[in-house]
Amino acid sequence: MFFKENSPSYRELILGVNKKVPLISGKSVTAINFDNAATTPPFKAVLKDITSFAPWYSSIHRGEGFKSQLTTRFYDDSRNIVSKFVNADVNNTVIYVKNSTEAFNKLSNLLYEPHKKNVILTTDMEHHSNDLPWRDKFIVDYISIDTEGRLSLEDLEAKLNKYNNYIKLVTITGASNITGYKNPIYDIAKLVHKFGSKLLVDGAQLIPHAPFLMNSDNSEYNIDFLTFSAHKMYAPFGIGVLIGPKNILDNCEPDLVGGGTVDIVTHNFIKWNESPQRHEAGSPNVIGSIALVSAIKVLNKIGMNNVESIEKKLTAYAISQIRNIPNLKIYCDTSSEVDRVSIIPFNIDGIHHSTVAKILSYEWGISVRSGCFCAQPYLVKLLNISSEFVHDRIANPDLYRPGMVRISFGLYNSFQEIDILAYALSKISLKREYYIRKYQNMKKTLFDV
Ligand SMILES: Cc1ncc(COP(=O)(O)O)c(C=O)c1O
Repeated sequence: MFFKENSPSYRELILGVNKKVPLISGKSVTAINFDNAATTPPFKAVLKDITSFAPWYSSIHRGEGFKSQLTTRFYDDSRNIVSKFVNADVNNTVIYVKNSTEAFNKLSNLLYEPHKKNVILTTDMEHHSNDLPWRDKFIVDYISIDTEGRLSLEDLEAKLNKYNNYIKLVTITGASNITGYKNPIYDIAKLVHKFGSKLLVDGAQLIPHAPFLMNSDNSEYNIDFLTFSAHKMYAPFGIGVLIGPKNILDNCEPDLVGGGTVDIVTHNFIKWNESPQRHEAGSPNVIGSIALVSAIKVLNKIGMNNVESIEKKLTAYAISQIRNIPNLKIYCDTSSEVDRVSIIPFNIDGIHHSTVAKILSYEWGISVRSGCFCAQPYLVKLLNISSEFVHDRIANPDLYRPGMVRISFGLYNSFQEIDILAYALSKISLKREYYIRKYQNMKKTLFDV
């Protein structure tokens, strides 16, 4: 195996990369984290900035004390930094939420018109968070995918034609959390706008990994709404973002009401504030905003083009190292022409996905994700599972559940770590019976070692 080390300076940005974790053998090794699509570790700068700010932390928006004013200024200014990071223009407003899931739920509440038969067009490749919140308030239809799991633009156009005047929103993931495929969101925006509709991009897997242009000189290509989560971009302090046109959001009734959302209140009259305050009820997550801004500053310093290029190299290298391992099947188009983020889904024939994940952790200290990745309809299609099979699982929850193993990279991962993974997977594949026997009834956990 040949080692091509990633720039050590990127590893130095991350807290905890050198932490040792226990193995089942009783030894310990430096942890390898290939579960960055779920959540990333924090940047050291994020912790440092929070510690520097904490002595100044105070009440926000209505305090005359110096610390209150400073806290208010940090919080309010953070929206401009977030806007700039995704190239959103002044017609948009940044609303802070807990995470992407809350952003989808909020927007579904805001856009809901009880007496109208509005349609939401989403896709077969979405995370549950960009599917379930729409279901009880709208007619939801799903743009189909091809045999490799890529979005069908023909079906998008067909469905835009079919529902034309009834479409409230088209909502599509910027990048899949299973296959890593990036959707051609700017071309999609142009098409959606041609039909007079608006586009929401789920940026959870895109914003931390690639440059994003919410607005450009050519408004046909503009992205109308955007959601993303800070914990997937090295700032795990409970904040997420919903960005959208101020003129639309200012005309929506708030879904959560209370302090901060109102301008004037009497017992029988309410005048709501403008957005974003209108849609941020209660005391906000100031520390979360400090963390997000801090992470953005680090990412800006590295440059998002650079981040994308580093992660593309890691992904291409990993694909080249694992694709020929016997019994290993990758579930996405791995050709170099495919635009993707740093995610690879696979299985080893004959071993349950959760067992592979466990072996990687218990034997080599490698963290990966296994299961359905909160995108069951997409996973079922990628695995070509019949509806009878799904119904059997609904009837009998104890039956074996299908899934995959997912590796996902952050900008700090190294080629050396990928070599260890490739070695581990080759070994698991070669000695399947041994590992199945060892792990299938194992009760011992790594806390018992
Ligand atoms: C594509 C995608 N959308 C939405 C979400 C939901 O993000 P959160 O859990 O931060 O709300 C995820 C989380 O993994 C995701 O991968």
